[in-house]
Amino acid sequence: MSRFNFVSFFLTLCLATLTNSYGIKGVCSGVNTATGQRPFRQEFSKFKDSGPVFDLYILSLEQFQQRNQSALLSYYQVAGIHGHPYISWDGVQGNYQAGYCTHGSILFPSWHRPYMAAYEQILWANAQRIAATYPVVQRSTYEAAAITFRIPYWDWAINSTMPDPINDPMITVNSPHGLVNMANPLYNYTFHPQPSATDFPPNDSLAKYHSTVRSPDAAGQSQSSVSNQILQANAQAILVLSYQLIADQSDYAPFSNTGYTDGRGGNYNSLENMHDAIHAFVGNGGHMSIIPYASFDPIFYLHHANVDRLFAIWQAIYPNSYTTSEVNAQGTFTISPGTNDTLYSPLTPFHSNYNGTLYTSKTARYTRHFGYSYPEVVDWGINATQLSSNTRANLNNLYNPTGSIATRPLLHKRSNGTAPCARSNATTEVIEYQYSINIRVDKSALHRPFFIHFFLGPVPSSPAAWPTAQTLIATHSILYYASSITNIKRTTYGQLPLNHALEGINSPLDPDCVVQLLKEALCWRVQDFQGQHVDTGEVANLKIFVVGREVVEHGLRDRFPAYGEWSILREATDGKVGGLGRGEGM
Ligand SMILES: *[C@@H]1O[C@H](CO)[C@@H](O)[C@H](O)[C@H]1NC(C)=O
Ligand SMILES: *[C@@H]1O[C@H](CO)[C@@H](O)[C@H](O)[C@H]1NC(C)=O
Ligand SMILES: *[C@@H]1O[C@H](CO)[C@@H](O)[C@H](O)[C@H]1NC(C)=O
Ligand SMILES: *[C@@H]1O[C@H](CO)[C@@H](O)[C@H](O)[C@H]1NC(C)=O
Ligand SMILES: *[C@@H]1O[C@H](CO)[C@@H](O)[C@H](O)[C@H]1NC(C)=O
Ligand SMILES: *[C@@H]1O[C@H](CO)[C@@H](O)[C@H](O)[C@H]1NC(C)=O
Ligand SMILES: *[C@@H]1O[C@H](CO)[C@@H](O)[C@H](O)[C@H]1NC(C)=O
Ligand SMILES: *[C@@H]1O[C@H](CO)[C@@H](O)[C@H](O)[C@H]1NC(C)=O
Ligand SMILES: *[C@@H]1O[C@H](CO)[C@@H](O)[C@H](O)[C@H]1NC(C)=O
Repeated sequence: MSRFNFVSFFLTLCLATLTNSYGIKGVCSGVNTATGQRPFRQEFSKFKDSGPVFDLYILSLEQFQQRNQSALLSYYQVAGIHGHPYISWDGVQGNYQAGYCTHGSILFPSWHRPYMAAYEQILWANAQRIAATYPVVQRSTYEAAAITFRIPYWDWAINSTMPDPINDPMITVNSPHGLVNMANPLYNYTFHPQPSATDFPPNDSLAKYHSTVRSPDAAGQSQSSVSNQILQANAQAILVLSYQLIADQSDYAPFSNTGYTDGRGGNYNSLENMHDAIHAFVGNGGHMSIIPYASFDPIFYLHHANVDRLFAIWQAIYPNSYTTSEVNAQGTFTISPGTNDTLYSPLTPFHSNYNGTLYTSKTARYTRHFGYSYPEVVDWGINATQLSSNTRANLNNLYNPTGSIATRPLLHKRSNGTAPCARSNATTEVIEYQYSINIRVDKSALHRPFFIHFFLGPVPSSPAAWPTAQTLIATHSILYYASSITNIKRTTYGQLPLNHALEGINSPLDPDCVVQLLKEALCWRVQDFQGQHVDTGEVANLKIFVVGREVVEHGLRDRFPAYGEWSILREATDGKVGGLGRGEGM
C-alpha cells in the first residue's frame, strides 16, 4: 500500500465523510475486531518516554491548537463545548447561559466519555497525516506508532505532581524535519485571536489572559510549582479517595456525582468529588479551577482521561450498575434545571454518526465502542466474573499494594497536633477504624469558588500558608461559577479522609480517643481562589461532620476490604462554626 493510500484508507474507515454532523467514533485502528483487543491509553509518565508516539502526540496537539478558532474542529471550538463561549457546537442549539458540560448530574461520567473520544479522534487524524510526512527511513516506525495512537492520562492518585514535561514552556521532539525545540502545547494554550466580549465576558477574572495559566501570580504569570505544592499537600487524601471510591461504592448513582442524594443525605465521596479537587489544585485561580474555562488548559484532557479511566475500572468491577434517573438541579446549555436525566438523555452536542444521532449514556457506555482501553482493564477473552476479579487485583496492586490504604497513614505524614491517644501494640488486628470528614454545602454559598482547608492542630496565621500547612489534613474545593442558571440553590456533597493525618496513634484507632483528639485539634478555614480568608459563618448551609467505621481487610489480592456502616461522631465538630452539633438533626 502506498503511503497516500495507507493514510486515506484509515481516514475513510474511521472518519468517513463529514456530512451533516461530526460523528464521534473514537479510533478504530489497532483494534483486533476478532478478539476485541484494543490499544491502551497510557499513563503520561510512561507515555512520554515512548518515542515516536509521543512525538506524534505533541505535534498533533500543536496542529490542533493552531487551527483557525472559527473551525468546528479547532481546539478553541472543541474546548468551547465544555463552557465558554456559550454557543452551539455541531448544530446543537441551547437556551441557557452555560456550557454543555454536565456537573452535579448523573450524566457527569458518561458525558465526558464521548468528549474525550472526540478529542482523541481529532489528534489521531492529525497523527496519521504527520506520520506520513517523516523521511522514508523513519516513516514506517511513525506510521506504526500512529496506528496504536491513543491519548494519555495523568494518574494523579499514583503521583499527584503534574508530570514532567507538562510545565516546561518549551519541548523538544523529533519532527518530520528533524529535532525541533518548540513551544510546549501542554504548557498553555494561547488564544488566537483573543476571544471577543461575547465569547468571554470581560468582567470574568480569566477573560484578560492571552494564554491559559496555572496558579497565576499578581502579574498573571503561571506558577506551576505552587499548584504542585498544593497537589502534594493533598496527595495522600487523593490516593485514599481514589481507591475507596472504587473499592467501597458499588452503586453507580452515588459513584457518579456530587449532587446525588437518596433523601437521607448524599454519598459524600464520588468520582466528581475527586475530579473537582484536581481542577481546583491545578488551576488555583487559573483556568482549570473555573469550570467554564477549564477545558482551554491542555492538562484538562490528561485529567479527564484519568477520570474516564477510573470510570472504566469501576465499570469492569461493577458491570451491572449504571445510569439511572436523577433530577438535574444545575442544568446546562441544553438542559433546563429540574430535568429528569435518564439513561436516554442526549449527551449534547456529541453525535454518534453523521446523521445527527446524539449519544446517550446507553450508547456511550463502553470504551470498546470508542476503540481504546486502559492498562488495568483487559476486557477481552474473559467473562465478566474474571474481568471483575482481575480489575480488582490490578487496582489493589496499584493503589493499595500493602492492603492497608483504607486505614493507615501512607508516608508517615507528620501531624504536629496533640496526640493524646496511647499507642497500641496490637499486631494481629484485622478490624481497623477509619475516619472521614463529610462536607455538605450550598454550591452557590459565596457566589464564587472557594476552598475549605481542614487542619489537625495549629493553623498558620497567614492564609497564604494554609494550602500547604504542616498541620493540613486536606482541602475540599467548591467549583462554583456564575451563570444565569447557577443561582439556584443546590446542595453539593464531598468527603476527605482523616486517617493519614492521625499519625502517632497506632492501630486500632480507638474511637473514643480519636474523637477526643478531633474535638481538640480538628478545625477548618475557608479561603477563596484569590487567597482571601472568608469567615466560615458566611458560608450558607455549610455542614461538616466526622464519620467513622470499621474496616476488615481480607488480604486477598482480588478482594476489597469490607467496609462497615458509617457512624457520625458529633462530638468532633460540636460547637464549631459550620460543624454538626451534638443535638442537631441532619
Ligand atoms: C478563520 O476563518 C474565518 C472564517 O472562515 C476567516 O474569516 C478568518 O480570516 C480565518 N482566520 C485566519 C487567521 O485565518
Ligand atoms: C512524581 O512526578 C514528578 C514529576 O514528573 C517527578 O519529578 C517525581 O519524581 C515523581 N515522584 C515519584 C515518587 O515518582
Ligand atoms: C505560553 O507558553 C509559551 C511557551 O510555550 C510562551 O511563549 C508564552 O509566553 C506563554 N504565554 C503566556 C501568556 O505566558
Ligand atoms: C458580568 O456582567 C454580566 C452582565 O452585566 C452580569 O450578568 C454578571 O453577573 C457579571 N459577572 C460577574 C462575575 O460579575
Ligand atoms: C424520571 O424518569 C424515570 C424513567 O423515565 C422515571 O422512572 C422516574 O419516575 C422519573 N423521575 C421523576 C422525578 O420524574
Ligand atoms: C445515515 O442516513 C443514511 C440515509 O438515511 C443511511 O443510509 C445511513 O445508514 C445512515 N448512517 C448512519 C450511520 O446511521
Ligand atoms: C468465567 O471464567 C472462569 C475461568 O475460565 C470460569 O471458571 C467461570 O466458571 C466462568 N464464569 C462464568 C459465570 O461463566
Ligand atoms: C511541632 O511543634 C513544636 C512545638 O510547637 C515545634 O517546636 C516543632 O518544630 C513542630 N514540628 C514540626 C515538624 O512542625
Ligand atoms: C507497648 O509495648 C511497650 C514496650 O514493648 C510498652 O512499654 C508499652 O507500655 C506498650 N503499650 C501498650 C499500650 O500496651
